[in-house]
Amino acid sequence: MSKLTLRDLDVRGKRVLVRVDFNVPTEMRGKKVRITDDTRIRASLPTINYLREHGAKTILMAHFGRPKGKRVQKLSLRPIGDYLHSLIHQPVIFSHDTIGEVPKKIISHMENGDVALLENVRFQPEEEANDPKFAEALAKLGDLYVNDAFGAAHRAHASTAGITKFVAKSAMGVLMEKELKHLREGLDKPVKPFVVILGGAKVSDKIGVLKALMGKADSILIGGAMANTFLKAQGIPVGASRVESDKLDLAREILDLAEKRGVKFLVPIDAVEAKEIRVGATIRNTSRLSPKHGISDGWQAVDIGAATIALYQEEIAQGETVLWNGPVGIFEIPDFAEGTMAIAEALAQSGATTIIGGGDSVTAVKQAGLADKMTFISTGGGASLELLDGKALPGVAALSDTK
Ligand code: 3PG
Repeated sequence: MSKLTLRDLDVRGKRVLVRVDFNVPTEMRGKKVRITDDTRIRASLPTINYLREHGAKTILMAHFGRPKGKRVQKLSLRPIGDYLHSLIHQPVIFSHDTIGEVPKKIISHMENGDVALLENVRFQPEEEANDPKFAEALAKLGDLYVNDAFGAAHRAHASTAGITKFVAKSAMGVLMEKELKHLREGLDKPVKPFVVILGGAKVSDKIGVLKALMGKADSILIGGAMANTFLKAQGIPVGASRVESDKLDLAREILDLAEKRGVKFLVPIDAVEAKEIRVGATIRNTSRLSPKHGISDGWQAVDIGAATIALYQEEIAQGETVLWNGPVGIFEIPDFAEGTMAIAEALAQSGATTIIGGGDSVTAVKQAGLADKMTFISTGGGASLELLDGKALPGVAALSDTK
């Protein structure tokens, strides 16, 4: 079912409640909060600017961190509001309460084109409980509702889902629309050959995605700690590597499924192994992995090896559409980052449509300085995985359908 978009709404003079995802990484500089990656804030600008230009009164709602229903000062959205002010060159009126008299009064004084930001919705326990009374109180602050928080669209919370029951019309924002378009394209009609790179720690986190992509991808390249589970499932020793011993049957099932469906399913043919997971640890490249020569006893696989990099690079170069979700090694430690950086580089050089499916792979692409070389980078971590998994996102499902 298709959903209303921002362009379907008549927003002039209206109070438009916009759920955004301002859950950005920050660090403390003395007593000041410094935003270390503003991608999500910038990604919300097309919707905010559209509303400003069309004479709406924009009321932004967002969560920040996980304050568990309590007011936690360091998780206040005030610094984010100040930062947004510097981006849009217009004051962002901050309401230090999320619902009640304070926001009501602020909103009653808003002029067309003004922008306000409500305090962290998760300071209220009712937000995550999707409490209807709280959702209604939020809804009463506006006339229309727009959800642009793709990164939080997999959460059925009051400000992402419940609120839609209490507003006349609810629509997708510009970012939400863009995210859905690009990520669904990866699933629905990828230009072939379609190459998927899946990394990350656990097979269990990616089962749904693996199965959903199985019928569509031409090749699936596996990396990260989840590769260890596939190696072990094929009888290859994994030393002291992280492995999900209870998922070996599942890994075998996936390998069989790939064979039946004619999908090229590649697991690492060599690895970088380390004695310890720390900066400065001793590392070495293994020889070709086989049931006789696996990861050494007491060592752990921390990255894909040189031969695997070459194999994966070759495969990526064949792709017309390449989807990447999850780093192929522990890239936070520079010595273990070579494989992940090489994958980022291969995507940048591929000439294919490249889709980075959120989370750590986005960080890796940025770290490699290659973000502007990718076709699309998702702002969602969990949300993009659930979408790729074929699941409905509550924050999208709840929006008004087009007639
Ligand atoms: C994210 O950072 O992935 C989203 O903002 C969702 O945050 P959450 O996992 O705390 O719900």
